[in-house]
Amino acid sequence: MSTLQEAIRLDDAYHVGMYARKPVLFVRGEGARLFDDAGREYLDCVSGIGAVNLGHAHPAVAEAVARQVTRLVHVSNLYYVEHRAELAETLVALAGGGRKAFFTNSGAESTEGAIKLARRWGVRRRGPSCVNVVTAERSFHGRTLAALAATGQPAKQEAFAPLPAGFSHVPLNDIGALEAAVDADTCAVMLEPIQGEGGVRPCDPEYLAAVRRLCDERDVLLVLDEVQTGFFRTGPCFAFQGYDGVVPDILTLAKSLANGLPIGAVVATDEVAGSFAPGDHGSTFAGGPVVCAAARATIEALHAEELGMRTRLAGARLATGLRDMAATGAGISEVRGTGLMVAAELSRPVAAQVASSALAEGLVLNSIGDSVIRFLPPLVCSDAEIDTILGTLDAVLREV
Ligand SMILES: Cc1ncc(COP(=O)(O)O)c(C=O)c1O
Repeated sequence: MSTLQEAIRLDDAYHVGMYARKPVLFVRGEGARLFDDAGREYLDCVSGIGAVNLGHAHPAVAEAVARQVTRLVHVSNLYYVEHRAELAETLVALAGGGRKAFFTNSGAESTEGAIKLARRWGVRRRGPSCVNVVTAERSFHGRTLAALAATGQPAKQEAFAPLPAGFSHVPLNDIGALEAAVDADTCAVMLEPIQGEGGVRPCDPEYLAAVRRLCDERDVLLVLDEVQTGFFRTGPCFAFQGYDGVVPDILTLAKSLANGLPIGAVVATDEVAGSFAPGDHGSTFAGGPVVCAAARATIEALHAEELGMRTRLAGARLATGLRDMAATGAGISEVRGTGLMVAAELSRPVAAQVASSALAEGLVLNSIGDSVIRFLPPLVCSDAEIDTILGTLDAVLREV
């Protein structure tokens, strides 16, 4: 078995240095707990960046994967396989029916697929110039080139110019700015219901409802990126289901769809889905039987364990605890989020130090920018675990 020191040495020598990794080697997980190479236990508040909603090493997912890998791993999208169409049926039902789905391998690929589908729709609808997509400032839609162009974060984009054309960005929750940005060449507006990588910033309910109305009036598609908010992270199965009168034309998914295995999906209304013809899009691996079996087991367990309800209760406990800490001068200036997608804005730019000290205390936390701490624990985390998170954070904040 490898050790942390050996992993660091090999990584430094052979892995491209594109991550500032934390000094820990996780070797095992169970529910909301992680264990390192020395057997030390941690409470996980990152969930692999929101990808393990059911908790680590869930037995139903493990069993589904084990069964499928001994049966058939891969034949490609040229053929029918078990689990793919069944999973599409489930996703369509969860999204409200009248839709079709296709699969990808990641969130960025779901973004790419949604953009290609929206462009196909726009060109057929209004001609060759109807290809532009409006997204929000501070949004995050992935790291591939078009997904990066859609992302509203210049700092992540600048080094990779020229990015694909056809994207503009507007301030979130400003409907006037969106009205001004959408024109005859706009095929879609793409938003995260709650911006995740941008610091856990929710769309206001009135704003998202107004966006839906604007898209209807101007004949423009509404794409909701639920890569991070999906699968009960915020309470309902999809975050849009917590907003009155908001249903997307295209929904993008990934992260927790198969509880940490690499799969994404794009779910579009029947009419929009009809814009793709054979040959327009594809992937060697996407929709393979192993990840689809894992996704079906994940969705079944999320429902069986009633994790939507658990998320609401645990999220309320976490947010209340953080607000209480803010009131007692622990250095938290604002608490944002819904369900178990929560951020604490710190009064000083010490988020990275807080995350490092928390790790040393056995709490796995993620910092965003200089002053935001994000909490994305597995939805299975217990009240006692939430209290441990709060207690450890309080001690760490006072120390830092
Ligand atoms: C909202 C959103 N969209 C897209 C992505 C990209 O997903 P992936 O890293 O799987 O490409 C992310 C990743 O954090 C995300 O949060």
